Formats: sequence, structure tokens, C-alpha cells
Amino acid sequence: MRETLGGTCLNVGCIPSKALLNSSHLYHTAKHDMEKFGIEVSDVKLNHQKLMAQKEKSVSALCNGIQYLFKKNKIDWVKGKGTFLNQNEIQVALNNGESTTVKGKNIIIATGSVPTDIPGFEIDEKQIVTSTGALSLEKVPEKMIVIGAGVIGLELGSVWSRLGSKVTAVEFLPEIGAGMDAELAKNFKRIMTKQGIAFKMGTKVTSLKKVDGKVIVETEAVKGGKKDTLEADVVLVSIGRRPYTDGLGLENAGVQVNQRGQVEKNDHFETNVKHIKVIGDVTTGPMLAHKAEDEGVAAVEYITNGFGHVNYDVIPSVIYTHPEVAWVGKNEQQLKDENIKYKIGSFPFSANSRAKTVDDAEGMVKVLVDAETDRILGVHIIGSNAGEMIGECGLAMEYGGSSEDIARTCHAHPTLSEALKEACMAAYSSALHV
Ligand code: NAI
Repeated sequence: MRETLGGTCLNVGCIPSKALLNSSHLYHTAKHDMEKFGIEVSDVKLNHQKLMAQKEKSVSALCNGIQYLFKKNKIDWVKGKGTFLNQNEIQVALNNGESTTVKGKNIIIATGSVPTDIPGFEIDEKQIVTSTGALSLEKVPEKMIVIGAGVIGLELGSVWSRLGSKVTAVEFLPEIGAGMDAELAKNFKRIMTKQGIAFKMGTKVTSLKKVDGKVIVETEAVKGGKKDTLEADVVLVSIGRRPYTDGLGLENAGVQVNQRGQVEKNDHFETNVKHIKVIGDVTTGPMLAHKAEDEGVAAVEYITNGFGHVNYDVIPSVIYTHPEVAWVGKNEQQLKDENIKYKIGSFPFSANSRAKTVDDAEGMVKVLVDAETDRILGVHIIGSNAGEMIGECGLAMEYGGSSEDIARTCHAHPTLSEALKEACMAAYSSALHV
């Protein structure tokens, strides 16, 4: 097993990808966008090795931070791969080749997820890569094909596109963003297209072959079956992740998984074996680090105090592209499906003074509220700071807040968060600045 703590998020997920998103954004800005601010830069060059080294530095600093927290909190780290022997004992094949057994009165399964594999798509993490390989490519590929325009495809597609790759995303569904509000998905696709990413929607990949240093990608339209052949230097397979329980020996403990391979839980995070609890990507719910963290805290609270709390209706999602996309609560389709009457308040960043000042005014805020009570049911944002702005929306929803509550809260001027206030004003009466 991995020699460092922190799981997928820290080692090969959220953290290294955000480092690359930041540096690729800086590079792209320096190369293409500085002149409009009256700053003339010339001879902007990419030092690939340094770019990767900065990413690795941020990962190792945070990994060491967790190691420090383990020590501080007197947590033993048994380095190896664990397998249930029975309902209280785990055998660990240690990384150093030896073996040991640990016992627990309470056990929490938090084994996470791994990329979904498609039979016949042979991942080598060099030319045909998952997110792991896409975080460590040795050079900028001339042409990259991304299979799946979900969160990983959009984030890592953006990284390599900004660094100079010609990126094409092939997506099975008619819209990008894996569950994003349809209006935002449409807007966001337009923005990504303008940034240079090409999309082949409603299309599936039928085969991948490596020929003469290239990858030949055969595709087929979902409707009508029209076939096409594409060629790339690197193909990123980002079609979702699956719960990881390989070799965990769940059967030895009598812990059940559902048809999707998820270890199911009840409200107290208990599996079907009461003292074995489960949290994170390996169980039901969105595969997000912050959801896993909240579940971890709550599961431990159940063990120590007998109660804990995670509000699954208020878990934010963020895509860390530029602009970012962030949302919390329900989207329009979900409200329609549930027959909930709602009102919409929206506000474009093109009318927000701060966004105009910094010439970064792509995107909008859209607030969905209960038509009768004005309670906020969902907020959807495309904007350069959307991931930070969504925190205020989650807090308001956690307290059962209404659009009037946010609209009557004084927001500093000039800030991007005034766009949220204006969208809320639009939902409950009318916006000031449109
Ligand atoms: P995803 O579920 O976000 O997107 C997968 C996309 O691939 C979907 O749009 C799907 O329609 C498409 N797809 C599936 N099979 C396909 C095929 N054969 N051909 C073409 N398209 C196909 O999954 P992704 O991007 O791999 O991410 C995995 C998980 O990691 C997600 O649960 C995501 O939430 C999480 N994640 C979250 C991040 C964040 O919060 N910023 C960053 C990265 C990952």
C-alpha cells in the first residue's frame, strides 16, 4: 500500500490537481492574458520539471502534515494492506514484507475508490492514463483525448489544454458536468469551448489501440451509431470511479456490498455488522473528500457519544476550472422531478463590479427557492471564485435560510459575493444592478 498518508485526495486527487490547475492558469495568463492589463511579458516559457516539482512539494508538505497529526494524536500507523480475518481482526500484509494482526472493538472502513476500468482499455499511465497518470505526464502532449466530460475530465482536460495540448473530450451523455444543473452545463460548455477544448457529445469510445506511438480512438455516436476515428498522443480515461474493496476480505467479516459494489450503511454509518462502520467513497453518496471527512467525524461521534450529523442535502460540489463551477442543493431538473414549485433568481457576473474591475466576468449565480416559503433549495454558480462563494450558500441552507435572508445581509463592495446577494434579491423581489 501507499507509503504516504492522505489517500487519493492528497496523493493523486484533489491536492495535486489543484496545484496543476493553479500553475497552468498562471502560465496561460502570463502567455495570453496579461497584455490586456497593460503588462507586457515576452518569452514566457514552461519549465515542465519545475511545474511538477511544485505540485509534488505541495503534496509532500500536506502528507507530512497528516503524519504529524497522527503523531500528535497518538494514532498508530500500521503500514500495509489490511484484510478482515473475522469481525474483529484485520491481518495486515506490511509494506516491509512482514505480516501482523490488529484487533478492533470498533472498525471503520474507509478504503475509498479507484478509477472505473473498461475491459479492453489497457491503462499504462503513460499514454492511456487515469487521473493518476494525467497528473504526472512527462511532457505536454500535442493531442489529448479525454473520455468522459465529468469532473476529472474537465479539470485535467483544462490543465493540459492551458499548457498547450489540443484537447478533445468525448462524452456519452448530451451534456457535460455529470449531474450539473442543465443551464449551467450548457453555459459552461460554451466557456470551455471558447477556451479551446473540443467536445464530441453523445458519443462513446469503442476501442483504444496503440499504433506507432499514437493512440487510435474509435468512437460511435450513441444515437444512430455513426463511427469515427480520432488520434491522440495521450488518452485520459475519466469515466467515473468505483468503490475499492479488492482484497479487503469483507466476506470473512460478513459485511455486505450492494450491486454497485458499495458497502451500504445506515444513518449511524453502520454496515450490516453493527460495530463495523463505513465512510467515504467506498459507501453510498457522492465521492467527495469533504463528504468523507464529515462522515468520518460523525461515525466517530456515534462511537464515542451516540450521535453524529451529516446533512446530505447540503454537500457542495466544485469543479476547479477557471472559471469554477460550484453548486449546493437541488438543480432545476431534480425540483421538477420531485414536483416542487420553485422560483429562480439569477445574476450575471458581467453586471458585478468586482468581476468587471478584474476583467474576469464570465459566469452567473442562479438561486432556486421554494415558491411559497422562499427557502433556498439550491444555488448554482459559474465564476472565478465559485468554490469559495458556495460556502455562504451552504451555511444559509444549513440554517434553513431564505433568499430574503441573504438579500438583506450586507455584502462588502466590491466583491464577487454581491452577485449572490443580487441573485437572491432577484428571487425574492428584484435585483438592483440589472
Ligand atoms: P464523473 O462521474 O464526474 O464523470 C464521468 C463522465 O464520463 C460522465 O459524464 C459520464 O457520462 C461519462 N462516461 C462514462 N462512460 C463513458 C464512456 N464509455 N464514454 C464516454 N463517456 C463516458 O467521473 P470522474 O470525472 O471520473 O470523477 C470520478 C469521481 O471523482 C467523481 O465522483 C467526482 O465527483 C470525483 N472528483 C471530484 C473532484 C472535485 O470535487 N473537484 C475532482 C475529481 C474527482
